Amino acid sequence: MATQNELNEIVLSQGVVGPLTRAAIFLVVCIRPDREAYSQVQDFCAGLSGLVRAVEFRDVEAGLTCVAGFGSDAWDKLFGSPRPAELHPFRELRSGTRHAVSTPGDILFHIRAKRIDLCFELATQIMEAFGDAVTVADEVQGFRYFDDRDVMGFVDGTENPRGDAAREAAIVGYEDPAFCGGSYVIVQKYLHDMKAWNALSTEAQERVIGRRKLSDIELSETEKPSNAHSALTVIEVDGKQLQILRDNMPFGRPGHGEFGTYFIGYCRTPSTTEKMLENMFLGQPPGNYDRILDFSTAVTGGLFFVPSSTFLDNVGTDPLPVAVAAETEAPPATEPPTTAPAQDTSLKIGSLKGESNE
Ligand code: HEM
Repeated sequence: MATQNELNEIVLSQGVVGPLTRAAIFLVVCIRPDREAYSQVQDFCAGLSGLVRAVEFRDVEAGLTCVAGFGSDAWDKLFGSPRPAELHPFRELRSGTRHAVSTPGDILFHIRAKRIDLCFELATQIMEAFGDAVTVADEVQGFRYFDDRDVMGFVDGTENPRGDAAREAAIVGYEDPAFCGGSYVIVQKYLHDMKAWNALSTEAQERVIGRRKLSDIELSETEKPSNAHSALTVIEVDGKQLQILRDNMPFGRPGHGEFGTYFIGYCRTPSTTEKMLENMFLGQPPGNYDRILDFSTAVTGGLFFVPSSTFLDNVGTDPLPVAVAAETEAPPATEPPTTAPAQDTSLKIGSLKGESNE
């Protein structure tokens, strides 16, 4: 079995860990449920890095990146087995008036750059390449708002892990060797009730977030309520804080009264982000929920696995998993239908260009 270092050397991650950018597009698509569409999407996967390079090179300074993540069901149909150890559909949470909804989505694209036109061009090229193989479930253009603030007026992203700590938090390592270099990502699109929020005094808003609004300084232990957002999202195990890597973006249409935050959180295990969501929606202890939810409604929710670039570049060399064949083609009358994914225990890195897989 390969060591962690060997795996790190041969597996290249997608651009999960990167600097915050001024612009982003979040695109969620659903694959048309037939064999032809799945096969088209497989071809697309292998060509994605080339597509990104072509658009990126038109202004390298703008730092265009694209992360593609796949939902649990889509994973089985596109790639079969093995599957990422902790990939499952997004788990809904409901308590009182609070509801973390789960909404349809097979593939998430998180496109980032300093310039929105590059994000726009890549999203256009992606949709062009898909043709009619997919339908769009959601599309959001995010922008940086003044000094990295959300539309509620608070600086968002301060306590994010940086450098090696970001990689450590977000990227799957040796715990799942076949998917080393990957990441789990949870997204939720929130809409804010700005009228209700703006009716609060600045001090009351600061107690909801747990930080000062102007200076972004954290409230002291005595000032910060236990239901503040930044109290409920801090999770410690054995004295060590569990981290996720966030890159939330404001979005909105003032003319339509729409003001939102697109939450995106990467982690090497979905369980950390899920624990934060439980604390926020159900409360910690139960009932002591996040007051940010009195002013914010989640209208989408999805969990995706982001495989390494190496994995994606090598997609399509195997036949479609049995699960797709079974679901999209009528089985012969004498044979019982099968839904079990094909067994393939390779790391899917065997066809690395110029590399041997020994
Ligand atoms: C309505 C959507 C949300 C808004 C407007 C929002 C905004 C903020 C703000 C202003 C901060 C303080 C500055 C910072 O450290 O970044 C923060 C911190 C944080 N948020 Fe959120 N957030 C939202 C949703 C979420 C969700 C859904 C999660 C996790 C599932 C989350 C996890 C965190 C974490 C881990 C921190 C850092 C806590 C710390 O270490 O102090 N946030 N958020």
